[in-house]
Amino acid sequence: MIGPYRIEGYAIASADGMIADASGIMPLSLQRDADKIYFEEAIEHIDAVVHGRRSQEIQPKTAARRRLVLTRSVAAVEPDPTNALARLWNPAGASLVDALAALGVAGGRVAAIGGPQVYSLFLALGYDAFHLCRAPDVRLPGGLRVFQRDRFDGEPVACLAGAGLTPQPTVALGEDVTLTEWTRA
Ligand SMILES: NC(=O)c1ccc[n+]([C@@H]2O[C@H](COP(=O)([O-])OP(=O)(O)OC[C@H]3O[C@@H](n4cnc5c(N)ncnc54)[C@H](OP(=O)(O)O)[C@@H]3O)[C@@H](O)[C@H]2O)c1
Repeated sequence: MIGPYRIEGYAIASADGMIADASGIMPLSLQRDADKIYFEEAIEHIDAVVHGRRSQEIQPKTAARRRLVLTRSVAAVEPDPTNALARLWNPAGASLVDALAALGVAGGRVAAIGGPQVYSLFLALGYDAFHLCRAPDVRLPGGLRVFQRDRFDGEPVACLAGAGLTPQPTVALGEDVTLTEWTRA
C-alpha cells in the first residue's frame, strides 16, 4: 500500500516479455479478446488508472474513469485541459498521494496500465499485485520490455520476483492467453 492506495499493475506481454514491438507499437498479435475481457472486467473495480501519455486504455467506460496521465510537460500536478476526470502528473514534482488527492481519489485501488516507464516507476514505488497476461505464441525481438531495460534487468518475472512479489499458479484465460497474478505476502 502507498498511503490508503492499493497499487496494481496490468499488462499483456509476449512470450519473450515485450509489451510492444521494436517500433514501440503494441501489435495486433498482442491484442487478444480474452485479455481485453479480463482487463475490462478487472478495471471496473479500480478507483483510478495511471498511465503514460501514450498508453490510455480504449474501452466503453474509459471516459468515465478517473486517471493520472504522466507527462514531463507539467511541473507537478495540473488539470488535463481535455478531460475533467484526469490530472496531468509529473512524479518529479509531486508524490503519488498528492496527485491522487488532487484527482479527488481519497483511497482504494489504483491501476498502473503502462507503458514501461510507468510500470517501472511503480515497481520502484511498490506493487501490491501485478496481473501479468501472456500471449505465449508471440515473440517480439527488440521490442519494449514490461520494465525499462536501463532500470531493471531481465524478464518481467525476474523483475517482479526481485521486487518482492510471488506468483500464483498460471491460469488460462482462453486458448491463447495466460494470466499469472503476482502478489505481495
Ligand atoms: N501490452 C501492454 O499491456 C501495454 C500496456 C501499456 C502500453 N503498451 C504499449 O507501450 C507503448 C507505449 O510505451 P511508451 O513508453 O512509449 O509510452 P508511455 O509510457 O505510455 O508514455 C510515455 C510518456 O509518458 C510520460 N511519462 C512516462 N513516465 C514518466 C515519468 N516518470 N515522469 C513524467 N512523465 C512520464 C512521458 O510523456 P511526455 O513525453 O509528455 O513527457 C513519456 O513520453 C505503446 O505502444 C502502448 O501500446 C502496451
